[in-house]
Amino acid sequence: MDNITLKRGPVYICATSEELADHAAASLARLCKEAIAARGYFSLALSGGSTPPVLYARLLKDDYRNSIEWNKIHFFIGDERCVPYDSKESNFGNASRLLLDKLPIPPENLHPTINQDKDPAGSAKQYEEELRKFFKLKPGEFPSLDLIMLGMGPDGHCASLFPGTKALDETQRLVVDNFVPKFDSSRITFTLPVLNSAREIHFMIEGAEKSEVLAEALEGDQVQYPVQRVAPKSGVIYWYIDRSAARDLCSLPRKQ
Ligand code: 6PG
Repeated sequence: MDNITLKRGPVYICATSEELADHAAASLARLCKEAIAARGYFSLALSGGSTPPVLYARLLKDDYRNSIEWNKIHFFIGDERCVPYDSKESNFGNASRLLLDKLPIPPENLHPTINQDKDPAGSAKQYEEELRKFFKLKPGEFPSLDLIMLGMGPDGHCASLFPGTKALDETQRLVVDNFVPKFDSSRITFTLPVLNSAREIHFMIEGAEKSEVLAEALEGDQVQYPVQRVAPKSGVIYWYIDRSAARDLCSLPRKQ
């Protein structure tokens, strides 16, 4: 593994998905311990996509399964598809099937969206209220989740903040239903103010098809992609990427 620190945060360049999951799991466990010591609980928003399952498998191995205080973690989802939980498209549904259902987590610690398949707009409003209630927010305040996990698509989207979509311009709401033309459907997503209020954001990004956009996101000056608008006010972004996603980085350490 190589690690470099760029202006957008520390970047860990891993040889395999397993190595990437190892580092992401260690970082999550570190932050979990810090948060529980400081505030008595750890608020964590999981992400969707194909990258998290390797992290979930790593967290289920004995060293983390037996050491992380699962009953003190509150699980949210940074974005959700407007499908029922039992759909293989459901982000919280997949996280439950691959991780949450296998751990001693009290039901009250699970914070999925509800009704997202029947009423996206109402579901976004309800999720917003869930965040307001849990974080005891006053009007105009945004929640500081301890950790928001994110992936990045080849178009530079993260959560369900896709290029050219309305949610990117949202400055007041916490959660919105965002119509995504390329899918001809809506998604429920955290807005940028929520992402940018997090204590830490961990990106897990794999695949050569993302290398060009990722190089722009990590080293470019011009903001062209949604991922470049993720800039936590007082938080830190950690980037866990594989070698193929890193191949266009100018700052790559040269192999001796
Ligand atoms: C989703 C995700 C989405 C995902 C990226 C990256 O609902 O699909 O939240 O933002 O993280 O598309 O997906 P991969 O990790 O599969 O490349």
